[in-house]
Order: sequence, then structure tokens, then C-alpha cells
Amino acid sequence: MSKPLSDHDRRKQISVRGLAGIENVSDLKQNFNRHLHFTLVKDRNVATKRDYYFALANTVRDHLIGRWIRTQQYYYEKDPKRVYYISLEFYMGRTLQNTMVNLGLENACDEAMYQLGLEMEELEDMEEDAGLGNGGLGRLAACFLDSMASLGLAAYGYGIRYEFGIFNQKIVNGWQVEEADDWLRYGNPWEKARPEYMRPVHFYGRTEHHPDGVKWVDTQFFEGKELRLKQEYFVVSATLQDIIRRFKVSKFGSREIARTDFSKLPDKVAIQLNDTHPAMAIPELMRVLVDEEKLNWETAWDICVRTCAYTNHTVLPEALERWPVELFAHLLPRHLEIVYEINRRHLERVAAKYPGDVDRLRRMSLIEEGGQKRINMAHLCIVGSHAVNGVAQIHSDILKATVYDFYEMEPHKFQNKTNGITPRRWLVMCNPGLAEVIAERIGEDFIRDLDQLRNLIKFVNDEAFIRDIAKVKQENKMKFAVHLEEHYKVKINPNSMFDVQVKRIHEYKRQLLNCLHIITYYNRIKKDPNKQWTPRTIMIGGKAAPGYHTAKMIIRLITAIGEVVNNDPVVGDRLKVIFLENYRVTLAEKGIPAADLSEQISTAGTEASGTGNMKFMLNGALTIGTMDGANVEMAEEAGEENLFIFGMRVDDVEALDKRGYHAEEYYNRLPELKQAIDQIAGGFFSPKQPDLFKEIVNMLMHHDRFKVFADYEDYIKCQEKVNALYKNPKEWTKKVIYNIAGCGKFSSDRTIAQYAREIWGVEPTLEKIPAPDDKH
Ligand code: IMP
Repeated sequence: MSKPLSDHDRRKQISVRGLAGIENVSDLKQNFNRHLHFTLVKDRNVATKRDYYFALANTVRDHLIGRWIRTQQYYYEKDPKRVYYISLEFYMGRTLQNTMVNLGLENACDEAMYQLGLEMEELEDMEEDAGLGNGGLGRLAACFLDSMASLGLAAYGYGIRYEFGIFNQKIVNGWQVEEADDWLRYGNPWEKARPEYMRPVHFYGRTEHHPDGVKWVDTQFFEGKELRLKQEYFVVSATLQDIIRRFKVSKFGSREIARTDFSKLPDKVAIQLNDTHPAMAIPELMRVLVDEEKLNWETAWDICVRTCAYTNHTVLPEALERWPVELFAHLLPRHLEIVYEINRRHLERVAAKYPGDVDRLRRMSLIEEGGQKRINMAHLCIVGSHAVNGVAQIHSDILKATVYDFYEMEPHKFQNKTNGITPRRWLVMCNPGLAEVIAERIGEDFIRDLDQLRNLIKFVNDEAFIRDIAKVKQENKMKFAVHLEEHYKVKINPNSMFDVQVKRIHEYKRQLLNCLHIITYYNRIKKDPNKQWTPRTIMIGGKAAPGYHTAKMIIRLITAIGEVVNNDPVVGDRLKVIFLENYRVTLAEKGIPAADLSEQISTAGTEASGTGNMKFMLNGALTIGTMDGANVEMAEEAGEENLFIFGMRVDDVEALDKRGYHAEEYYNRLPELKQAIDQIAGGFFSPKQPDLFKEIVNMLMHHDRFKVFADYEDYIKCQEKVNALYKNPKEWTKKVIYNIAGCGKFSSDRTIAQYAREIWGVEPTLEKIPAPDDKH
């Protein structure tokens, strides 16, 4: 096997990441030294790797400043409709390398660092992840920022700069342990605080009704326990104040007119709510328009609905936000009144349309009665928005069925916007070798127009292309194997199939189904050790919510299985099980390009879209998956025969629900399943604590909402097909090519262009903003 290229050599070969910038090298070196001296106040006698990282980050940042100011000025001149994406999460990861790639500066910076005797990758590794999110929803918001900028939209992301990101996960004796993520400890070169724009956000207090309107008085700041609700209102209140400030000074606001003409707001402002977390934007906008700007209710409501749009991310009942009325009454008394008034008028409309249908009124109310009264935030968002979208076709269809009363009453509101990922970060940046092999065949335009990947179909039988694709994968695997050895002290066989499931740990994502396959494969190898088994390295990674006991037990089970399997001399390096500690954006960027097989095995109907599935597909992994979320559309785009699809469809799950799911039927009928469950239950994987996993077994046998056993048999058969194909590398790689060629749809550029045209009423443009004068 050939030695992997050093990163410096690799970058030298790569044109897609900016060979054009080489002439900047001496400028970059000069600016780097200037920042080291004047910004960091260090010389090379005392500078640490982190100082060099900060000097480089500041040097690169300088290249953004002129463009940023010119862009903002341009927006003020042209006054286009502004798009505001409000999200409680922006899971950005690192910024340095991404910025260099997007500015076409990477090769020049690499050369500059090389000439200074520094290793750029080492400096990049000093950057903390901005982990201001949990998983897909937050990362989607980050991909959308990249695409909104790339499509030239006057768009803004509004969120919270949390002082601590998602916890760092340590695995101690097989268990997840959470550590605080003090990501700002050394400062953050990618932000600019604007304390001069600080605005007050009010909490608590009471309302006073006067003849000239309602006042919210006696408010206090940040006490008590309702932190999450406070965060949600905090981001919404601050954002709306900024939106309205900007609207007022824009041409369409009141700069020339005495009084702001708010009837123009929906023409100049689009607000997108990333899930219900910022739902308070609706009553808050009403409060501002009615209480502060003195508009009448009907006018204000029309403006509010035409301005706001809502994206739904899940239909799992436990994930839907329902805030107790009592908490609201205390923290946001005026907003509660407004929500009641929205509800009163909404139910009046329902009653007028469906006279006498009392049960429908109950189902459609924003206020859930019975026990503790709660506000159903999804209902609030649907009523207060002009567009409601799901995030993959199957999910949008399920959403319509789930809130059927709302769909029936206002079908025009309901849309689909299949999620996407940014090809800049998730291909060009994280997998330059693959980007280069593609660019050699079809040019570089696919980076801005991912549909062009279709042009790869004509190379599907091209021996040289097949070889190149396979070679890049092998290099990525070697590199990841080295990384795992350095960071986790595990040795893996780079010739084994890298079988990867990385995502939050959750019952519905069914890491347990993966575990059952591992155990089954292990038992088969043990039973017939001389057979030619396809070697696999199975990697599972992801964080469990700190309070989610079952998810933590699932992690413990994975590590326990690993302890037995990895130390069994009969198995050798034909099967290894690795728990990837502290899975996060940066680890995804390293691991996904190295994967052969992507596990997307949720119970049909539970994963709204998935976006990890798309990252693997774009990086040349084959998918084993259920017909769930965006997997369905991936199969459409690449050809179902080029994915490993198994298991129940949504209809089958519903039919099984009607019949009744009885886990013990599968347990009694399938001997290998029985053996695996008996091993888990009997302490085979936890000899010192034989009943460690009895809760998990009990759940699987008696109250498994996600029906793991019902898909077991088909999953195992499908994994056999995976093994068979892996033995034929050429046929495997052909399928990989069909998958890459089918990825065009999954660019977040396509997603954002659809939001722009179909929800926000703005036209994406690739018009270039006039070049900045970099000197000031
Ligand atoms: P904001 O959009 O009001 O937050 O302002 C952001 C940036 O836009 C400012 O820092 C300025 O660079 C630019 N800007 C603000 N007001 C104007 C204006 O009236 N004309 C041109 N540019 C402006």
C-alpha cells in the first residue's frame, strides 16, 4: 500500500482549493508576522502553536473584512428583501480552513506557513469547534449560512452565542462522561462584539391596559429556572429589535417618511423559524406592532403571517414543544395574552368553517387543556406563518397527515424543502482528494452547481476513474486510521470495510439494531472461523443527551461489545468495534471521507430527513438504510439498486402498529436474534455485572417503540449483500460513482434556492458585488 501523501504535498496537487493565490504568499507571510507582533504581542521565541493559529486566523480574517463591509453597503444601496434565519442553534464547527477554502486562499496560506517552518494542519487543529448545536438541526442552519452567502442573498443568521457549546464527551470505563466545553477560553477570532448595539430584553413583570394601549411594566432580568424559555424569548426579542431597526432605516422604512410604513414589512423582510424554538417571534412581532407601533390587530396579524415561515423538524411527540401556560404567565405575561387572542380569533375562524365541530376546536387549539394547560408551539407556528415546511418529501407528507386539520383548512401553507449540505465544507474542504479527481473529469463548476455531478455517469465504466476513486478512498482510510491510532490508541486494519454510524444516540436512530448485527456477525465468525469473512471495522459515534438514560446505556453496550469482540483472538482483525469518542463537526470532517458504508437505519417514519446520510453519499460511501427521511430521495437520485435498502416502509410500520408489535415473536422465530439477546441479557458482554443491560433487553422485548426486532432479519440479509459486494471492489466503486453522481439534489444551494423562491419571495443571484477596495 502506498504511503499517504503529506498534507502539504496533497495541497500542492490540488487546484480546486486555490492555486491562483500563490502570488499572495509574501503578503500573507508579512501580515502573519504583523499579527503575531501587533495583535498577539509575541515574537517567535515565545509564540506557541496557538499563537500561530491566532496570527493565521487574523490574517485570513483581514481578507473578509473589506468584502463584508462592501456587501453591507451594497445591501443598503440596493435595499433588497432581507431574509432572517432565526435558530437556537448554529453548529458551525471550525472556521479557519473553511474560510481559506471559500476565499481560494488555502494553497497560498499553506505555502506561506511552510516557508515559515509551520505545519498548517497543526495550526488548524488548535481551533476550537463552535459547537453551538446538538446535531442535524444546528448543522443545517450552518450549511444554510454558507449557501445563503454563496447565492448572494441579503440573509442574516440570528442565534445565541452560548458561552459553553455542547459538552465534550469522554468515554471513561465505557461510560459517557460530559465535560464543559469552554470554547471561548482563548478568545474567538471569528466574532466582533457590538456592545454599542445592545438592546434590552424584558422578562416577568405584568401588563397594564390603558385607553391608549397595553404596557408591559415591572420587568426583571434573568432570574429563576426557566432558562430555556428565556433563551428562546431572548433571541427572538433581540432579533426583532434589530430587524425593525434596520427596516426603519432602509429606503422602505421611514428614513424619508415621518412614520414607518409597516405594511411594506412582508415585502422587505422574511423571517424563517428553524423549528418551534423561535416561535415567540410571532407573539413578539404582534406585541411590537400592536402595543408599540399602534397598528390595529387585523393589520398587524396580516403583516405577521406574511412575514413569518416555519420549518418543522420532527413529528416525534416527545420532541414537540409545549410550554406550560403557568410558566408563560409568570415570565412573559403580555405574550400569553397575545397568544390567547391569536387563539381566540383562530378558533373563531375554525368554528365558522366547520360549524358545530367541537372536537375539531379542541384538536386545533393553541392551548392544550386537560391536566396542566400548555401552549402547543407547533400550532402557534402553523397559524402564525404563511408557509410550513417539512425537511424531506416523506416527512412533509407525514407532517400533513399529523396535523391534518391544519392542512385541510389551509393546504396552500404546506410545502416541502428537502434538506441539503454545503459542498464547500462537505466535499472540497474535507475531501480534497475526491474533489480533485472529480474536477479532473468534469471541471470545477460543480462546486457552485452540484447537479453537474451527473456528468460523472459517463465515467462509470472508465477504469482509470474507478481506480482514482478507489485510491482516494484508500488514502482517506489510511489517514483516518492514523488519526484513530494517535488520538484513541486503537489500531485498525485499513483494508477492512469501514462501516460507520455517527449521529446523536437515540432509540429511534436504532444504534441497537447495529449492535445486533455486530453480535450476529461475531457469533458467525466464531462458529466458522475458517470461512472467508469480509473484514469490517464498525465505528459508532455520537453524544447521548446527559439526562437520557437509555441512550447512555446504549453507549455502554457498544463499548462492552467492543471489549469482548476486539480482544477475541479467534476474530482477529476481521471484526473491530470502535466507539468514536466526542463525535462533532470536526470529527465528521475527518471520518466521513474514510467511510465505506453509511448506516442510516432509523425506523421508517421517524427520521425527518437526516443530513449525515447526504455527507456520506457525497464522500463516496454506500448507504445501508431504511426508506426513511432523505434516504428515499437518495435512492431516487442514485437508483435504488445502488443503495442497500431494507426493512419496513412507513406503511408496513403502520400496519404492524395496527396488528400489534410483539417482539417475542421475532425472538422465538429467529435463533441468531435469540442468541444475541440472550448474550446481552446473560452478561456475555458484561461478565463483571451480568445484569448491566437488563433494562435494554427489557425495553427491546416489551416496550420498544422503534421495533428493532421487526427489521432485524432483513437488515442481516442486507448486510450479507454488503459483504458480498465489498469482495468485488470494482463493482463496489461503480455503485459509489452512481451515488456521487446522484448527489446534486443534496446541495444546500438547491435547498436555499427553493426557500428563496417558494417561501421568501427573493431571487437567488450569482451577481458579483463590486470588488472591495481592500485598503480600507
Ligand atoms: P446594519 O445592517 O444596520 O447592521 O449595518 C451593517 C453595516 O451596513 C454597517 O456596519 C455599514 O457598513 C453598512 N451600512 C449601514 N448603514 C448604511 C447606509 O446607510 N449606507 C450604506 N451602508 C450602510
